[in-house]
Amino acid sequence: MSEVYPVPAETAKNALIDNDKYNEWYERSVKDPDGFWGEHGKRIDWIKPFTKVKNVSYSGDVSIKWFEDGTLNVSANCLDRHLAKRRDQTAIIWEGDDPNESAHITYGDLHERVCRLANAMTDLGVKKGDRVTIYLPMIPEAAVAMLACARVGAVHSIVFGGFSPDALAGRIQDCDSSLLITADEGLRGGRKVPLKANVDKALETCWSCKSVIVVKRTGGDIHMVTGRDHWYHDLVAKAAPTHTPVEMSAEDPLFLLYTSGSTGKPKGVVHTTGGYLVYASMTHQYVFDYHEGDIYWCTADVGWVTGHSYIVYGPLANGAITLMFEGIPNYPTVSRFWDVVDKHKVNIFYTAPTAIRSLMREGEEPVKKTSRASLRLLGSVGEPINPEAWTWYHRVVGDGRCPIVDTWWQTETGGILITPLPGATALKPGSATRPFFGVKPVMVDAEGKTLEGAVEGNLCLAEPGWPGQMRTLWGDHERFKQSYFATYQGMYFTGDGARRDEDGYYWITGRVDDVINVSGHRMGTAEVESALVAHPKVAEAAVVGYPHDIKGQGIYAYVTLVAGEEPSEDLRKELVNWVRKEIGPIASPDLIQWSPGLPKTRSGKIMRRILRKIAENDFGSLGDTSTLADPGVVDDLIDSRMNRG
Ligand code: PRX
Repeated sequence: MSEVYPVPAETAKNALIDNDKYNEWYERSVKDPDGFWGEHGKRIDWIKPFTKVKNVSYSGDVSIKWFEDGTLNVSANCLDRHLAKRRDQTAIIWEGDDPNESAHITYGDLHERVCRLANAMTDLGVKKGDRVTIYLPMIPEAAVAMLACARVGAVHSIVFGGFSPDALAGRIQDCDSSLLITADEGLRGGRKVPLKANVDKALETCWSCKSVIVVKRTGGDIHMVTGRDHWYHDLVAKAAPTHTPVEMSAEDPLFLLYTSGSTGKPKGVVHTTGGYLVYASMTHQYVFDYHEGDIYWCTADVGWVTGHSYIVYGPLANGAITLMFEGIPNYPTVSRFWDVVDKHKVNIFYTAPTAIRSLMREGEEPVKKTSRASLRLLGSVGEPINPEAWTWYHRVVGDGRCPIVDTWWQTETGGILITPLPGATALKPGSATRPFFGVKPVMVDAEGKTLEGAVEGNLCLAEPGWPGQMRTLWGDHERFKQSYFATYQGMYFTGDGARRDEDGYYWITGRVDDVINVSGHRMGTAEVESALVAHPKVAEAAVVGYPHDIKGQGIYAYVTLVAGEEPSEDLRKELVNWVRKEIGPIASPDLIQWSPGLPKTRSGKIMRRILRKIAENDFGSLGDTSTLADPGVVDDLIDSRMNRG
């Protein structure tokens, strides 16, 4: 039995939702979705109000529409509608990589900046429906660029600044972006990231992209291509400070975001305008129990979905104060997070387990020497949080006072789906607890049979669903259906395994497909494999995840070299660098095992189950190896795994 942490009295006193209200709202959300979401859909401003609420089918061609006859503009919801009351209120607190650099940007300022960029983009020819790729560091211009796209009706695709030129090029080509917004260089932990140089390389193969807007962040020496590249500050200085937002249909795309799947190239997840904003804003308010004036900080990067929904869209739609941090947790010291909490009096703090685990390793002193008295609520996202890290976060960071919301969701889901609500839910360390409104988790076994009660299985989601869900994959509705709705008929398959306990709490156990989660970053094993085999000395590669103390999962690569090539330390380094170049540093293999052969079935299929077990040092439960073409391969792999300790 795990320990239970009841709702603290202090939290209960002011919380927006208590347990009775949770139960009542939840029941209604799944029994009367039209009534429930019809009401909550009004939390945002519509130009033309919707009359239809839900039109969803998880079967057949799979069609997901919410509020479909309503029209709105997301940027107007995040900015214009707040101006009467909040023109001089801070919207974004920006904390630079250097602790001496920070800024407060009011709703009035942000509105003007967004209008200017929207006008500048229009002058460059960007129209409703065009795609704009954003490759920026964590600077306010990232939020400005997102909102300017939303304002003119362009679909943004943010590419994380840690991705390589090749990865960036692939994402530009897939959606034919006509404009790219970047910076000269990024700054993280005192180190410069050559964003513009990466863009120059990427654009050598991208014909769709006609213009580049460059924000000056570091003033580093870069090359500007005449006619193609424009300085951000020049364009916005010339542009008008007001702009009329473009009227969008609720089901027009707002953004696409590439994420890894179990096979093939990254998938362009498409989120639309109305349902996404309703869901992002509603979850932001209730999951973080956001009250007027609270200072809220999500440490994610805007390159990931967490940054989209919970740094920019959710908080700004709610008129909240959102903190944006350019740096990293251990620069200049491992107290940085807590120094920033004290400096800006942060009340709500949302981060990833991997950050907690790496700070935990540094001991309590760097935390304890800071005050953190402003903190009221803590959050976790991106990967399972182990109970040790959970209790350390609770006891040391939160001084035992602050509830932790362990929020489970995915790029595809747009917003948080399984989570405690601070005033409603007793917590169990390591459990994401209960579903948010509209979310109906179903546990199924490998054959697709629905499992009842306290069980472990594959996590699916049944209708009615929630309005923030992805609608399709960019340019590939067939892959959308195959990836998410074909495994279990009539249900969305998450790719995650989970356990449901006797109290109906969910415990996410991790991916059950060929996706691994490295420091909360999703990586397809197939992507790393194809990067490895692109190296001229590699004949074959198989990649699996293995447990890693800090990262959650590490990347374990089995590599077979072409005949005549010898393994060496130099070659190992070369391959790691090669993958960094092909995909980016987040895909660097942690361990490479030279494998003269890989365990294959007689039909040539690599038996990954066995490779996972060997990587985990779990040789006792390899299962049936009799179907292997050459069972001796397994013994060789185990021998060399053991020899490297
Ligand atoms: O395996 C789950 C894990 O992260 C995956 C989604 O990754 P991504 O699309 O990059 O989105 C990350 C941010 C929402 C999920 O399939 N995951 C995410 N949050 C949790 C989690 N696993 C356990 N507990 C969580 N709270």
